[in-house]
Amino acid sequence: MTGRVIIVTGASSGLGYEVARYLCEGGNDVILACRSEEKANRAIEKIKRQNPNALATYMQLDLASIESIKKFVEDFNATGKSLHVLVNNGGVALSPKDTKRQFTKENFELTMGTNHLGHFLLTNLLLDSLKKIGGEENGDARVITVTSSIHDPEVNRRKNLQPLDLDNFFLFNKGTYNGLQAYKNSKAANIMFTYELARRLDGTGVTANAVCPGFIPGTDLMRNASGTQKFINRYILHGMLRFTKMTRSVAQGAQAICNLITEEKWKGVTGKYVKDGAEGKSSEETLDEEKQKKVWEMSGGYVHLEGYEQIEVTPPPPEEEEKPKKEKKEEKKEDGEAQKDGEAKPVEGEAGEGDNKTDETKTDEQKKDGEEDELKKESTDKEEIKKEDEAKEEKEEKTEEKEEKKEESTEKTEEEKKE
Ligand SMILES: NC(=O)c1ccc[n+]([C@@H]2O[C@H](COP(=O)([O-])OP(=O)(O)OC[C@H]3O[C@@H](n4cnc5c(N)ncnc54)[C@H](OP(=O)(O)O)[C@@H]3O)[C@@H](O)[C@H]2O)c1
Repeated sequence: MTGRVIIVTGASSGLGYEVARYLCEGGNDVILACRSEEKANRAIEKIKRQNPNALATYMQLDLASIESIKKFVEDFNATGKSLHVLVNNGGVALSPKDTKRQFTKENFELTMGTNHLGHFLLTNLLLDSLKKIGGEENGDARVITVTSSIHDPEVNRRKNLQPLDLDNFFLFNKGTYNGLQAYKNSKAANIMFTYELARRLDGTGVTANAVCPGFIPGTDLMRNASGTQKFINRYILHGMLRFTKMTRSVAQGAQAICNLITEEKWKGVTGKYVKDGAEGKSSEETLDEEKQKKVWEMSGGYVHLEGYEQIEVTPPPPEEEEKPKKEKKEEKKEDGEAQKDGEAKPVEGEAGEGDNKTDETKTDEQKKDGEEDELKKESTDKEEIKKEDEAKEEKEEKTEEKEEKKEESTEKTEEEKKE
């Protein structure tokens, strides 16, 4: 399928970039909806270097700002184009164990606000355009929302991940927030949104599906993780395991998304959770129709969508994030002593679940939930993360200085030779 107008959110890097690049190759008119103009332009340059005829354009979109989303839709409508496909891909994952909340412009918890509410509003504001295409003879317009298998604690055997609590939508209640729970909730909301959207679009020629692209450690999704974790991601998970079925390359992950956009077999198919190229079963909570409707209603209220009762959001007072350093040192000492004595080291939450399992079982599970494996290995505390990053920056600066000096001396030598 060629010549379609397609918006890809978060197309400046990772899966979004690869999806945009691939769709341009297919001769589509692709709009890279990104928050950073500089990054988006770099992405477009890269696409055009490979494919000078690519129809790739940038339009500014910050999913963490209602004003920006509205402006984006205005700008898009001003182009006079109608939309064939919306790819709700952009997303953020904060460090899994981080207990310091971050917020969007409207005080939504950042992960839920960006991954779900941003796309909820964007999609709703673009529906007229999508319906125009869907309503044509043989019309075919599609909304694809990128979710993750991490939304399902049952599949991933994550006893410490809680269901999405509608009375605590942003995890504002004391002691309930951490980065992993927020990410899981946002990805569950992506699916519930998709199911309800599909029902609401019935008969319009516009379909709505959610897709899990698999575990792709090669993207920037874990940019907020510690230096150690990033190293594990890049060199162990991405580098060494890419030849196994446990992880996928960025191209493979992007292909899983693109299949839903380009394949004829998905035409007219709607309200599905797609995994490994086929319809999958999403978590129990996401299948609860009443909950889907409530999530929709609440989301409409939060983003002040026309026709919904507006809900104002007040951020909670900051919680104590870290134990005092001294206390942490004591804990580490105790851990070390316990190990010396041959005691089992206490393990937290999901990390402990694998302990009774055979290596074989572990491997099978890893295949299923590679992304979560990546997330759960996060253990370095914030202080260590900062130190690692600083050390890395210092090292990079020194290398740059060395290179500059080397260049200078080469130039001098050349000048001397000429003389
Ligand atoms: N990688 C995996 O293993 C995996 C597995 C399952 C699902 N997913 C999903 O795949 C999607 C893409 O992630 P990725 O792995 O490709 O990670 P990525 O490389 O970090 O890409 C995320 C993209 O989202 C953009 N973004 C973040 N916040 C935004 C905002 N407020 N407004 C607009 N754009 C924003 C980023 O833009 P900037 O560059 O400006 O930050 C970036 O382009 C996400 O929805 C993620 O949940 C990933």
